Amino acid sequence: MRHIFKKHNVILAALLLTSANVYSWETMPENAPTPADNPTTPEKVTLGKMLFFDPRFSSTGTVSCNSCHNVMEGGDDSRAFSMGVHGQLGGRSAPTVWNSAFHSVQFWDGRAASLEEQAKGPVVNPVEMGMSDIEKAMDRVRIIPGYKAYFDAAFSGSNTMSVDNAARAVAAYERTLITRNSPFDRYINGDKKALTEQQVRGMGLFQANGCQACHSGPAFNGPAMPAGTGFYSKFPTFADSPYTEKYDLLKDKGRADVTKSDADLYQFRVPTLRNIADTAPYFHNGSVRNLNEAVKVMAKTQLNNDISDNDAVDIAAFLVSLSGEYPEMIMPRLPPTPGTTILMD
Ligand code: HEC
Ligand code: HEC
Repeated sequence: MRHIFKKHNVILAALLLTSANVYSWETMPENAPTPADNPTTPEKVTLGKMLFFDPRFSSTGTVSCNSCHNVMEGGDDSRAFSMGVHGQLGGRSAPTVWNSAFHSVQFWDGRAASLEEQAKGPVVNPVEMGMSDIEKAMDRVRIIPGYKAYFDAAFSGSNTMSVDNAARAVAAYERTLITRNSPFDRYINGDKKALTEQQVRGMGLFQANGCQACHSGPAFNGPAMPAGTGFYSKFPTFADSPYTEKYDLLKDKGRADVTKSDADLYQFRVPTLRNIADTAPYFHNGSVRNLNEAVKVMAKTQLNNDISDNDAVDIAAFLVSLSGEYPEMIMPRLPPTPGTTILMD
């Protein structure tokens, strides 16, 4: 019996060793996964960017996608809860749109299977852009004379100004929001000076603590999954820590709200850690203000590791190295409505 036990341990150790090796470090690819039925074209990207910045199809005419996903900065709004029309607050923190194309499903709970599907949500969300009906929002776009030429350039057919085409254009634009060539990427590509000693130490600690069990792959959001299939984890996995109460971690039921299944209670899609230094506050409820603390919370709630302050600081320093080069964003010129406003119904 003893002998068998020993042998078992050896196998376990071997398994652990190989599983540690499974997670290779991956650099950011040039292009994001793209669905066959919506290839990215320059015409779609141009139109999608205009729509992303246009507040006129929100109920008040004041809220655009960029209001909560500021691509001039980290692609989020720096707030715990986003603020939509009439100053209303939502119940979750806005994730970044930078590199969101590398997620196989969208939203903290994975409820949208694609960027195309996601783009329609905020328009009719009462506390985001607040339109009563997605076709009414599209009517606002249709009424703006200058938009037709852009839809016709991007799409074929007689009725190019459809909700689905608008969503396709926004998704195509979002697939260009990729940040590459971070210090981490340069380090992996052979530039050993790209990381500081502290960051290299943090990288080792990230690996040794097992963070890659969830945060692997080029976007640090887990293994590549088929489009529409999410990679989820329970948060908190180890709920028996002071953090659970301190940061109110059992309030939001996560994916269970979508599937109504207890098996999905507190399951959240594993988020990207790319540019994580630029997207505080952290977690779905934006409850943690700084990155060092977020690292400690993760180590405890996901791995049951009590890590020292020094280790947390080193890991956070490594995470800073995941901030890549943001392509320059030039604000688009939006087509006007000469001599009239479309905002008085
Ligand atoms: C009022 C603020 C607000 C506005 C306006 C807004 N969003 Fe968001 N967005 C959020 C929040 C909050 C979430 C997370 C919601 C959740 O997971 O339940 C989110 C999630 C997303 C995601 C998913 C990212 C991920 O990692 O899962 C994408 C992509 C996105 N929004 C794009 C858009 C686009 C495109 C528009 C415009 C059509 C838009 N958003 C308008 C606040 C906003
Ligand atoms: C068992 C899976 C798992 C492990 C292991 C894990 N994470 Fe996470 N991580 C998640 C999930 C799920 C979330 C999203 C939590 C939420 O809903 O707010 C997350 C969120 C984060 C965030 C905040 C992201 C944001 O946009 O707010 C950071 C930072 C982070 N993890 C770092 C780490 C570090 C560092 C480690 C190792 C010490 C680690 N994670 C280990 C699953 C994991």
